[in-house]
Amino acid sequence: MLKLRDLRAYYDTPKGTVKAVDGVTFDIRENEILGIAGESGCGKSTLLKVLYDYVQPPLRIVSGEYQAEMSTNGNQPKILGPGEVRKHWWDYISYIPQGSMSVLNPVVRIEKQFFDAVGKNQDIQNKNVIRERVAGYLKELELPVEVLKSYPHQLSGGMKQRVLVALGTFLHPQIVLADEPTTALDVVVQKGILMMLTEVQARMKNTLVMVSHDMGVHYQITNRMAIMYAGKLVELGPTEAIFNKPLHPYTQLLIEALPKVGDRRQREGISGRPPSLLNPPDGCRFAARCPQVMDVCRTKEPQLVEIEPDHYVACHLY
Ligand SMILES: Nc1ncnc2c1ncn2[C@@H]1O[C@H](COP(=O)(O)OP(=O)(O)O)[C@@H](O)[C@H]1O
Ligand SMILES: [Mg+2]
Repeated sequence: MLKLRDLRAYYDTPKGTVKAVDGVTFDIRENEILGIAGESGCGKSTLLKVLYDYVQPPLRIVSGEYQAEMSTNGNQPKILGPGEVRKHWWDYISYIPQGSMSVLNPVVRIEKQFFDAVGKNQDIQNKNVIRERVAGYLKELELPVEVLKSYPHQLSGGMKQRVLVALGTFLHPQIVLADEPTTALDVVVQKGILMMLTEVQARMKNTLVMVSHDMGVHYQITNRMAIMYAGKLVELGPTEAIFNKPLHPYTQLLIEALPKVGDRRQREGISGRPPSLLNPPDGCRFAARCPQVMDVCRTKEPQLVEIEPDHYVACHLY
């Protein structure tokens, strides 16, 4: 449905160019839950902005291809490029941004936030019709209809996040992008939000792309995963394969760092820090931290190749 080919998106800053997304190639498929994982600062949120066609200064697309395939009731699918996808925000593609707790306007009641967001690109202009449909949708999602009359600060963090999921999915978009939807929440509330996201996705049979730095969250709900490191995609494959047979040494360390039931050993974590995206090193960007580093890794950049059916890795070991 969405296709990226060698896409580069950089920030222009006074200190230089930050190569936040630096040559990323992958496809997003119909009816899947795709997870994007990686340490803080590796470019996950920037990648979502590119997917959402929400690129504005200081961010710019430097090169590469970006294409979306929008299906239109029984007609030939429409191919959209950068600048066109944004015309179909909410109804084709929606976005739940990171730190969405602060996204809701604090002085505007929830109901009006629905009107403002979905009222303008909808044929249902009549407020009463929208009001009824929104209330009906909240009921379907088992949310109390009274939230519509509330201001954001009157709702708990978990309820605010649920409202945002409702808002983002109200017009049944073919693609929903969610950036760290559970990060600021405690584990119990987190579980509820994940269940809500997966239930909505299963009902709509649409595509959910979820960013999280938490591998546990990916394990619970995703079908496929993309692992990012310092602006690059280093591994892509079915979630089961990523957890049971991780190929990239970075992915292996991410999995090893996860706590396991009954194992009280101290977890190692990954020593060192990712390279600066202002001046990333030649070769493999993980080389300086890689336990299996070879000479070639410091000079030659590994390409993403398919090692097993549908399982891709960018690493000279393979
Ligand atoms: N508005 C911005 N201006 C300049 N640099 C930015 C901006 N937003 C993010 N960056 C930089 O881009 C890189 C990737 O950031 P981001 O996509 O937010 O990573 P993640 O979501 O994985 O934590 C980081 O080095 C970050 O500092
Ligand atoms: Mg982020």
